[in-house]
Amino acid sequence: MTELLLLIGAYLIGSFATAVWVSKGVFGIDIREHGSGNAGATNTFRVLGPKAGTFVMLVDMLKGILAVRLSYLIPPYDTPEQLINLQVGLGLAAVVGHIFPIWAGFRGGKGIATLFGMVLAIQPLVALCCVGVFLMILFLTRYVSLSSIIASIAFPVLILFIFREQEVFYRIFAIAVALMVVLTHQKNIMRLLTGNESKVPLFKNRKN
Ligand code: G3P
Repeated sequence: MTELLLLIGAYLIGSFATAVWVSKGVFGIDIREHGSGNAGATNTFRVLGPKAGTFVMLVDMLKGILAVRLSYLIPPYDTPEQLINLQVGLGLAAVVGHIFPIWAGFRGGKGIATLFGMVLAIQPLVALCCVGVFLMILFLTRYVSLSSIIASIAFPVLILFIFREQEVFYRIFAIAVALMVVLTHQKNIMRLLTGNESKVPLFKNRKN
């Protein structure tokens, strides 16, 4: 019962619609009507600039961290496996909240920053490896979406083959995350395939 309440709390934390509220509250627009239409940090960066984008990214990451931290509100479990299962569940609930926020008509973002915050709170080293993959792809292609997708696919690869996590729920979760990110990026994938995806204006002195 307590766990169920925590999961609901994590979902509500994830539902905190940072990009929507910042765009409406500070700039008087709904971010979902501009740019890629995504209520996330990348689109906020694109439409409203680096300060707003960074703010949204940090708060969305914090949602994942906070959701995982809810696990410390209950008495300690007998085994570390039970704790990690709960933490994965809580993080996942926050990501679902971010994608389908109850406070913003169930139209949220793609879950990347919140997912990163969650993995950072559970297994920082894995999170840093995923960031490394993300930055490498971003440097090579300048596509945030492609970087997010490949970093998310790297996540289960790391969990299963490098870190060799034995916890079944965690392994299933890692694979599900990659599939979920591919699903939330369907429009980006279409744009990538048709050459219509926008690149970030980084590394401007490069030729491509
Ligand atoms: O985290 C979302 C990012 O991967 C893509 O965002 O706005 O380009 O669809 P966007």
